[in-house]
Amino acid sequence: MAKSTVRYVCQSCGAVHGKWAGRCDACGAWNSIAEEAAPEASPQGKALAKGRVLDFQPLSGQGEPTPRRATGIGELDRVTGGGLVAGSVLLVGGDPGIGKSTLLLQAAARLATAGAACVYVSGEEAVDQVRLRARRLGLAEAPVKLAAATSLRDIAATLDAAEAPDVVVIDSIQTMYLDTLDSAPGTVTQVRACAHELIRLAKRRGFVLFLVGHVTKEGTLAGPRVVEHMVDTVLYFEGERGHQFRILRANKNRFGATDEIGVFEMTDAGLAEVANPSALFLAERRGNIAGSCVFAGLEGSRPLLVEIQALVAPAAYGTPRRAVIGWDSGRLSMLLAVMEARCGIAFGGHDVYLNVAGGLKIGEPAADLAVACAVLSSISGVPAPADGAAFGEIGLSGEVRAVSQPDLRLKEAAKLGFASALMPRRLRSANRKSAPPEGLSVREIGHVQDILNLFPANRGKEP
Ligand code: TYD
Ligand code: MG
Repeated sequence: MAKSTVRYVCQSCGAVHGKWAGRCDACGAWNSIAEEAAPEASPQGKALAKGRVLDFQPLSGQGEPTPRRATGIGELDRVTGGGLVAGSVLLVGGDPGIGKSTLLLQAAARLATAGAACVYVSGEEAVDQVRLRARRLGLAEAPVKLAAATSLRDIAATLDAAEAPDVVVIDSIQTMYLDTLDSAPGTVTQVRACAHELIRLAKRRGFVLFLVGHVTKEGTLAGPRVVEHMVDTVLYFEGERGHQFRILRANKNRFGATDEIGVFEMTDAGLAEVANPSALFLAERRGNIAGSCVFAGLEGSRPLLVEIQALVAPAAYGTPRRAVIGWDSGRLSMLLAVMEARCGIAFGGHDVYLNVAGGLKIGEPAADLAVACAVLSSISGVPAPADGAAFGEIGLSGEVRAVSQPDLRLKEAAKLGFASALMPRRLRSANRKSAPPEGLSVREIGHVQDILNLFPANRGKEP
């Protein structure tokens, strides 16, 4: 029987199927399976040729500290763990138009100005377009080598030529193609093969490689997800289109911590670093409004104050609505259920809307106490103290649980002029009680019931 020359590959997860189907069995994605030419038969039957015997090393031993190249963009350096490591590969993912090209062009220009040999290969824009952007960013004089190319064969040959560059930006990996493969650019097969080729080159020649990858909301567009496990560092650039803040987040980092974030502001002269994000996120806050509470959060090693806004309104239709922006909606439902069960507040007849101001997404359960304050404040019509911040996780029995780094959060609140803070009880044994920062009065909350007296007015139906 003739061997089939086509195969069906899920563009979302890379699973290979024998026939086309509407839904991928492996990842459950709909309409993601595309026809691709089958690769040459692999020599599966053949025995593996004999290999070289490995030379084992002890775990202990003298290791050189990895030398790092600072980009000069503080927020980028923070996220990468202190600078770029030679031979490392970074994938920068994000929605189209979020500012990936802008960020990397700025980084390349900074590095080139500092003396590194930088190459910027654009597969999406013509050289003139990139030049135009550089001029707008005030970087036209930076000695970055620019090329518009999509053929990986040409790019690899160029990068492999005598003088290896220090930093290479490939914008984007979805536009690159290898002519040895029949699949179209952007398919999983092409993306994976091109990334593999480039990564091998980066390791061999020791240059820092930035790969740009577009991710759509559904993750359909030949997800650079297949590349994630091949690279050293995965950075996600996120933010709401309508907001000027952009957050760079490390999802994976072989050379540093993954919970650091870098905060940028998109201006008409490119991305500007935001050294004090708390001040920025609180800039538009108006005091003395019911339904708002400031959360003293933590992103990586950096404390971050954000405003949580809640609106509780009588439900107009049968099923009350719960809408959440910037936080976990399941967590809000849980919190409402806890307040209903433990404090006797009825939310059944109310719509509840929750918003994290400024377009930030919070992942921490430590926001529970601030969310509870915002919700209670809205339903009672009593504003939370304008100069107060809150943090603490709330458990199912209504207890307020300790969270990490309370001192750091308090310090940030004091620095920004807050006068009071609600926080979980400190564990006497584990945490030597350090005095709260000067000017900040701290109230320890053991149970969610303890904050009810802050919001005394008509709180729905009492049991
Ligand atoms: P871009 O870097 O092209 O996004 P990506 O590479 O992630 O697709 O950014 C495009 C957006 O950024 C575009 O909507 C315009 C905006 N922008 C500014 O607001 N100011 C600037 O200085 C630049 C260069 C872009
Ligand atoms: Mg781009």
